[in-house]
Amino acid sequence: MRINERFIQELQEKVDIESVISSSITLKRRGKTLVGLCPFHNEKTPSFTVYPESNSFYCFGCGAGGDVITFVRRMENLDYIEAVKSVAQMAGMSMPEDGYDDTLSKQRMKLLSANREAARFYHECLMDPKNRAALDYFLNRGLSINTIRRFGLGYAPNDWRELINHLKSKGFTEHELVLANLARRSDKDGRTNFYDNFRNRVMFPIIDLRGNVIAFGGRVMDDSKPKYINTSDTLVYKKSNGVFGLNLAKNANDNKLILVEGYMDVIALHQAGFTNAIACLGTAFTNEQANLLSRYADEVIICYDNDGAGRTATARALGVLNKTGLKLRVVQMTGGKDADEIIRTHGKERFADLLKGAASTTEYKLLEERAKRDLSTDDGKVEFLIAAAQVLASCGTIERDIYSTRLSNELGVSADSIKAQIKSAEGKLRRLEESRKHKEEMAAIEKSFEDKNNPERAANLKAARAEETLIASFMRNPDFYNKLKERISPEDFVTAFNRRIMQSLVKALENGIEPNLSAFSADFTPEEMDSVTRIFHLSSTLGNTLRECEDCIEVLKDKSSQKITDTSSMSDEEFLKLFKKK
Ligand code: UTP
Ligand code: MN
Repeated sequence: MRINERFIQELQEKVDIESVISSSITLKRRGKTLVGLCPFHNEKTPSFTVYPESNSFYCFGCGAGGDVITFVRRMENLDYIEAVKSVAQMAGMSMPEDGYDDTLSKQRMKLLSANREAARFYHECLMDPKNRAALDYFLNRGLSINTIRRFGLGYAPNDWRELINHLKSKGFTEHELVLANLARRSDKDGRTNFYDNFRNRVMFPIIDLRGNVIAFGGRVMDDSKPKYINTSDTLVYKKSNGVFGLNLAKNANDNKLILVEGYMDVIALHQAGFTNAIACLGTAFTNEQANLLSRYADEVIICYDNDGAGRTATARALGVLNKTGLKLRVVQMTGGKDADEIIRTHGKERFADLLKGAASTTEYKLLEERAKRDLSTDDGKVEFLIAAAQVLASCGTIERDIYSTRLSNELGVSADSIKAQIKSAEGKLRRLEESRKHKEEMAAIEKSFEDKNNPERAANLKAARAEETLIASFMRNPDFYNKLKERISPEDFVTAFNRRIMQSLVKALENGIEPNLSAFSADFTPEEMDSVTRIFHLSSTLGNTLRECEDCIEVLKDKSSQKITDTSSMSDEEFLKLFKKK
């Protein structure tokens, strides 16, 4: 079942894509369009474009595109029905009572409520006198009852079925608990068994920005392994995008976030009054996490553990965060291995001092380079200065000036020669950058023949382009379709993906529905909508004439001319010329 198409069309007319998108990103008007920084990939110059006229968006950087529903779907990570509901709410429209399939969103709701019940259960177990050892574990680590409540901490009993039995009595099925990763399933000797995933562990619920419990981390109370078990990916949780504590930190309101490694670090910091502490879960810091943080802060202070793993993670996080334009600083963790330990052994004042002394990105990189060398030898000094010049080559003049003077005083080398060294490093850096750009441009040209949604495109370039030209022309000029429909049908299409688009288009046109992008968003995934949108926007580069469409039909009917495998031999411009000549 699907949502009534008329409803979607009406929704599309009522809702203003410009206001929906500008509530998540800053847009600047540029003629008939608006541009901003793309929320779906990291970029420093805006290539994300909103077209109010066609109620659509397209990013020239990453190729993401679609209608307002696709935007909300991607931005909020919702399924189609949920996105329609959300857009309908913005437009003040109520959903039609029937005519849509909301199985998936119902299932999500069910998992979220199972998680909520589980969190409640774990918390009650923690407070149960018979599990005193678990409560003592947290108390011994310095947490107050208040903190335990604020974070909703809990305890998973040492039993195979206590949670399952409890949640079954609340109306959840074992299958749902497996989907939520609260239970596991084993099939042995033809018998199926279900058992609790978390047993005899203290529990940390992970709560999203809307207050939903989306996952758990569970820690052993001794030195056994594995130290933590975490919820794996489910319908409501993607571990690599998880952030712990942001639900509380987003209210801290000083536009800074303290990024630490572990659950306990976040909790200890909050208890000590640093309520803007968060931890990014998953093994490697991701772009999604960086983007999320940049929506809630201007500055991130990295406080990773004082060990090899912590330093590697810092370098990685700096690399990923750098692309967001966030201001970054790094704390040199001294006096303990992590934030939790430092606060417990030296008090919160010590941690506040560390924060005050946090190094800028440049300072931190220089410190790292320095630590690798022995500055009491001439060789060590020279090596360090060369490395320092490389770090400073990507800085502005003021920073260069400050650090050159500092290094000059410290190492007894003239500031001028340090500056000269920076200049030459800058030249190298620029050349590297240029060659990287060139390579990227070449790759983009190569890639323009490919389409991840249409694997047949590159091998059938000529036919695929004819198909795309027809789709774009018919969308822009429905009367062309009416004139030509006896001569062309989706069955004539060579590539399966474009055939599907044509089928949806024909269905819309035959039903008298205006063929804008929303006519497709029910039948195509957000990823597929990228390609549909790309094709839709082709019409601005086309002749938009009946003649052009007739030429394309000829291409599709003439089986012998279709298969052009040598994609590199023809550019888009050449292809268009070919048509114009005819
Ligand atoms: P740490 O090993 O530094 O632990 O892992 P911690 O947070 O300081 O925990 P305590 O203080 O010993 O209780 C940092 C983070 O890495 C993840 C957890 O999110 C943890 O908080 N981790 C670690 C796992 O997911 N699994 C593990 O087995 C270990
Ligand atoms: Mn720790």
